Amino acid sequence: MILAIETSCDDTCAAVVGAEGELLANVISSQGIHDRYGGVVPEVASRHHLELLPAVVDDALARAGVGLGDLDALAVTQGPGLVGALLVGVASAKALAAARELPLVPVDHLHGHVAANFLAPSFEPPFLCLLASGGHTLLAEVRDHGPDFGVLGTTLDDAAGEAFDKGARLLGLGFPGGPELSRLAVEGDPHAFAFPTGRGVAGLDFSFAGLKTALLYKVRDLGEDEARARRADLAASYEHAIVEALVDRVARGLEQTGLDRLALGGGVAANRLLRERAAGLAPHVHVPAPELCTDNAAMIASAARFVDPLPYPAYVGLDAYATGERAL
Ligand code: KG4
Ligand code: ZN
Repeated sequence: MILAIETSCDDTCAAVVGAEGELLANVISSQGIHDRYGGVVPEVASRHHLELLPAVVDDALARAGVGLGDLDALAVTQGPGLVGALLVGVASAKALAAARELPLVPVDHLHGHVAANFLAPSFEPPFLCLLASGGHTLLAEVRDHGPDFGVLGTTLDDAAGEAFDKGARLLGLGFPGGPELSRLAVEGDPHAFAFPTGRGVAGLDFSFAGLKTALLYKVRDLGEDEARARRADLAASYEHAIVEALVDRVARGLEQTGLDRLALGGGVAANRLLRERAAGLAPHVHVPAPELCTDNAAMIASAARFVDPLPYPAYVGLDAYATGERAL
């Protein structure tokens, strides 16, 4: 039985997962205070983690019906992410583990997104995994459950979630923009405007910077009133371009590796259109529930089952890391 904590960005999360990957509790407290700034303010996020985390942990334990004494290990996201935010989770997990002299498992956030697919009922490797979030976009070749998956392609500029968020901002929508832009897109025509899908990029890498610029110019060309009137068409066409860019690389990746199994992960995998399009790409496709695609601690607990635990007190000096060189 593992209690995991995830505080890499603006969601304060705790979860309890059993040895077979059974999800016993998954608590997510979205801070919702960053909207007014149009993005996550790191210092504000850290302070809110400090305030929210004790109650979020208590809630996860209560929902799972267990106490600290029932746990076999603690797990925590070590990085990548906002370092101040990560440190709140790392310090709390260390303290909880040390109090009971339990082992602690440091987990990489990207391994967590992949491992959301290993929660019961598990989708077993080998598979190709499209990992698309606010901070990362990569195509992973997952051969086993561990953290050392191969990276076949990554974004050369913006992440897919960042493209959603920046597009939403250009259209005057709130933050995070992905869900809002997607809701608006339902009412629009995805073929109203032809936005670039970055197909020209060689290999299995992604590029979203040109798409964002194309939307900016289109909004300027249309003028304020017309752009407002056609917001749903702009959103639908923009979403369509992002999803087609992702789908194009996934199809190429499947062909290149010969894999017939596909999994998705990361916040963008909560996107309705991407989920629909992914379903037809391979004979075996697995997409975790939307709340297991966006940041959560259940995926961290899931990953922790496949990482060597640090025994007490080896983790007392454990530090967080901000960037994700490990995966690249
Ligand atoms: O994985 P995640 O929760 O946090 C990071 O690790 O970055 O991903 C957050 C990103 C944001 O950019 C958000 O706009 C995007 O995922 N996102 C979506 C949807 N839900 C979240 N993008 C498109 N459609 C959605 N339904
Ligand atoms: Zn994430």
